[in-house]
Amino acid sequence: MNRAPQPRRAVRRMRPYRPPLEGRRRGLRLDFNENTVGPPAGVLEALAGLDADDVAMYPEYAPARARLARLFGVSPREAVLTAGTDDAIHLAVDTFANPGDEVLVVEPTYAMYRFYAERAGARVRAVRYTRNLRFPLSRVLAALKRRPRILFLATPNNPTGTMIAPGELRAVLHAAGSTVVFVDEAYGEFSGTSTLGWIRRHPNLIVTRTFSKARGLAGLRLGSLFANTRLAAALGHAHSPYSVSTAALAAAVAAAGNQGATDRYVAEVIRARAFLEAGLDRLGIRRFPSGGNFVLVDVGSHATALVAGLARRGILVRDRRSDFGHAGYVRITVGTAPQTRRLVSALEALWRRV
Ligand SMILES: Cc1ncc(COP(=O)(O)O)c(C=O)c1O
Repeated sequence: MNRAPQPRRAVRRMRPYRPPLEGRRRGLRLDFNENTVGPPAGVLEALAGLDADDVAMYPEYAPARARLARLFGVSPREAVLTAGTDDAIHLAVDTFANPGDEVLVVEPTYAMYRFYAERAGARVRAVRYTRNLRFPLSRVLAALKRRPRILFLATPNNPTGTMIAPGELRAVLHAAGSTVVFVDEAYGEFSGTSTLGWIRRHPNLIVTRTFSKARGLAGLRLGSLFANTRLAAALGHAHSPYSVSTAALAAAVAAAGNQGATDRYVAEVIRARAFLEAGLDRLGIRRFPSGGNFVLVDVGSHATALVAGLARRGILVRDRRSDFGHAGYVRITVGTAPQTRRLVSALEALWRRV
């Protein structure tokens, strides 16, 4: 009798990560930091316009790469299109980390850095955000002395909302030596700042952007990784030539053609974020400053009741206790003005009862 094959040791050792993706269609989805209204006008039309050849053929990348490079103000040789940021994280790990190498993360943060690093058999070293959820610059600088292969940073960071100040990032890059510094700007549109312009100055800098958040294409999986041409070529060398679908390319190009819609959505979310923050302050709920389209709150022992109470009202938010090792932290995505008014009314009604 044959025996069931054993997964690699690194796979057996991975921490499980299964986000609650199922059954979300009917609710007000404030749980995954997606765009809450859908993609810009023109995207669904572009998808409907795909023909039999588009579907039967493997994708052609060059035109979309040129268009998206122009959108982000870089040359096509500085860009690698990826199946979401997720694929870019995977690619960076596969390109730079051998089994046993150290990969540095700053936690709590996006879980997929650890996921791919652990899967590759790298040793994950984590430094923590400060108690006030500020960026722990001195701890990061100290950890860089061990010369990890990759340092993963998100700015704004998920779930904390923390932004890394340009001076802090400069200090990190200055100290990084041969470490690859991966700056994930999945929420960059909402923070209004970007490190993208720095890739020509720093041979070890990777910056990523995604179409999943501000541009509403999370279901299609499209992102882009940016680096100077040498680094981008090394990453491109290790990248699957098939990873991004024709549908994702068509949708991203259509979204790029309607930047006005993205700008308007982002502006509305930023105003709604201020409205939510004011509402939380009125209720006396502890919150953390956020540069993203979400706000992290600390409601202590009321977290489970709050998440369940909102769910009963059709509003999904995300309990982030797994990031902190104890209950209390809840992450709330910010959507449009009417959606945020509905959320704040629900919070007011629930908070009166706790
Ligand atoms: C910091 C961060 N990076 C990346 C992603 C995922 O991006 P993508 O959909 O492009 O893979 C998320 C999603 O929650 C995120 O919070």
